[in-house]
Amino acid sequence: MDLQIAKKTSNTTPSIISNSDLFKMPDLKTTLLDAAYAAGDIIKSYFQGSFHIESKDSINNLVTEVDRHSEKRIIEIIKTNFPEHSIISEEVGALMQDSQYQWIIDPIDGTVNFAHGIPICCVSIGIRYDGKMLMGAVFNPMMNEFFFAERGKGAFLNDHPIHVSQKTDFKKACLVTGFPYKWPDTKEHPIKVFERMIMQGLPVRRLGSAAIDLCWVACGRFDGFWEYNLSSWDVAAGYLIVREAGGRISNFDGTETTVFDKETLATNGRIHEQMLQVINQQ
Ligand code: IPD
Ligand code: CA
Ligand code: CA
Repeated sequence: MDLQIAKKTSNTTPSIISNSDLFKMPDLKTTLLDAAYAAGDIIKSYFQGSFHIESKDSINNLVTEVDRHSEKRIIEIIKTNFPEHSIISEEVGALMQDSQYQWIIDPIDGTVNFAHGIPICCVSIGIRYDGKMLMGAVFNPMMNEFFFAERGKGAFLNDHPIHVSQKTDFKKACLVTGFPYKWPDTKEHPIKVFERMIMQGLPVRRLGSAAIDLCWVACGRFDGFWEYNLSSWDVAAGYLIVREAGGRISNFDGTETTVFDKETLATNGRIHEQMLQVINQQ
């Protein structure tokens, strides 16, 4: 007799699937990796070549035909395997369904770098289940760096486990930040916080890809990263990768952040309170 399993479908009616069907069931992690690798191949194939570039809401907030090509392929792969899942993707917006699963996609993070032939850009795909991040992948095909994390199972760079830095001495920290295309209406101008960090004599880098910034905190290259006004697709995958690598992510008041919040502070945990102090010192 066939083993029978009740599967919860999007319309919440349980359907019965047999064990022979089970072998055909798409796997979430495989689909995530396939989508990230396919997008990475597309990004790399156009890199430093010629492609169409447009401005979005401000002259330097760019979208290229490669962003759209990468996004189309990622969504095709997800829809083929999980047609009932919701998708939030930077260029097409929200394709919501009645599902506990949400894929959050940035088809190219670091588009300005990509458009200028700077190899610091990536595809970022996160999966949320029941309101919590479940898996994340960030792939920079130009540097051949594939970051992956699954909740409760650690974070990896090219299949090797990664961990945040051990540094406790804030004065020796190496930091990274980013700036929005349009200045947000915050109680203090973000450049003031940047000035305070620099005035402490700390090295502060600006790479131009929030997803890579987060992954580089996760693997210990940076000790801390902060930025105002990021979107869910910038941070979803990197958020989980930092946490699974042992790091801490919060809002600027130290409370736990979600991928939809507008303040991001990600550190090795050890320098978190000191960074909060500098961010909030007015
Ligand atoms: C941008 C990058 C950048 C950050 C911007 C983002 P995009 O994403 O992550 O580092 O400073 O706020 O919008 O536009 O390249 O996908
Ligand atoms: Ca982005
Ligand atoms: Ca993007």
